[in-house]
Amino acid sequence: MNIPTTKPYFPPEDAEEILEGMEEILSSGRFIKGKFLSAFEEEFARFVGTKHAIAVSSGTAALEIAYRYFYVKDKEVITPTNTFIATSNAVLYAGGKPVLADMDARTLCLDADDVKKRITPQTRGVVLVHVAGFITPQIEEIQSLCRTHNLFFMEDAAHAHGSSYKDVKAGAWGDVGIFSCLATKVITTGGVGGIITTNDGELARIARSLRFHGEDKSRGIQDRLGNDWMLSEPQALVGYVQTKRLSEIVEKRMAVAKKYDKIFQEHAFLKPFLLLPESICGYYKYPLLVDTAAHRKALGERLKKAGVATGSSYWPPCHLQPVYKKEFRYKEGDFSVAEDVLSRVITLPIYAGMTDEEAAYVIDAVMNS
Ligand SMILES: Cc1ncc(COP(=O)(O)O)c(C=O)c1O
Repeated sequence: MNIPTTKPYFPPEDAEEILEGMEEILSSGRFIKGKFLSAFEEEFARFVGTKHAIAVSSGTAALEIAYRYFYVKDKEVITPTNTFIATSNAVLYAGGKPVLADMDARTLCLDADDVKKRITPQTRGVVLVHVAGFITPQIEEIQSLCRTHNLFFMEDAAHAHGSSYKDVKAGAWGDVGIFSCLATKVITTGGVGGIITTNDGELARIARSLRFHGEDKSRGIQDRLGNDWMLSEPQALVGYVQTKRLSEIVEKRMAVAKKYDKIFQEHAFLKPFLLLPESICGYYKYPLLVDTAAHRKALGERLKKAGVATGSSYWPPCHLQPVYKKEFRYKEGDFSVAEDVLSRVITLPIYAGMTDEEAAYVIDAVMNS
């Protein structure tokens, strides 16, 4: 058997709805700023529970738009070292400086105490990434730290469509939430795409302007420096259909994770990241902690031979990426928790359409390798 790390989920009725929508787009000739963009945005905002959702061309564009809105130019933004590098790169695109922080070994997400230590008079905001879809219980502490210090609080929810903690969805905790809808994510807009969630009407207005070259309401007037960050109608159509399916997708992914948890928590050398109380997780990835980095490497190689694709979340972390070592002089030992834990984390295949046989095959391959 060959098991990929992930696969998008399109049951036949969703494929049919997309094909019908595509026919409508083709016959109308309306490829941007049409009814599917509004439908996707309205459905996503309703799902997350925010007043606004603004669809854009990628998660990275969503990040840059939000950083521009909060005017991070010449300021510092605290971002985790454990994330995909886009989280911190987009701070640079908006003219600011990312300041990396370490993680909590139990959750893979930002550690509130480490964030506190890195706040300076130059700090403008903090970005919490819900790694693999987990919302850390420290979110309330980080949120109140931001309030106390008058900082913006952003959720990078690129991994966390449909995740929630204490009945509040990812994307509804922060002043702003950003999502990636890349093909590998919990839901996709058909390849690439992103979306911003917020209750801040001014942020929504500026984001809509920035995504289309800084245009303001009156056509042809550019008020600010924007970019081409639009999501097309075919992409929005796919995003709309996927959002309607999101609760089911999360349920199915959680069911796979439960099967994995049950077996792996009995293993002597492996440790799953068990879901904490009052949490729902869309499991963008299923991380497993291995006792040593050497065993992690060996397990990855054996699973590859068995046809099971694996990944990391994330290795190397941002501070050990050559570009950041060069740019910011980060070095090994700078973030001891991230380095110790992430070198031992392996991620296993998980997707909504995973069959019982596929899940059993992965479990078997892990337990017998
Ligand atoms: C945590 C995180 N933030 C941001 C991004 C950037 O999103 P995109 O690839 O849609 O630009 C990604 C990944 O793709 C991500 O994993």
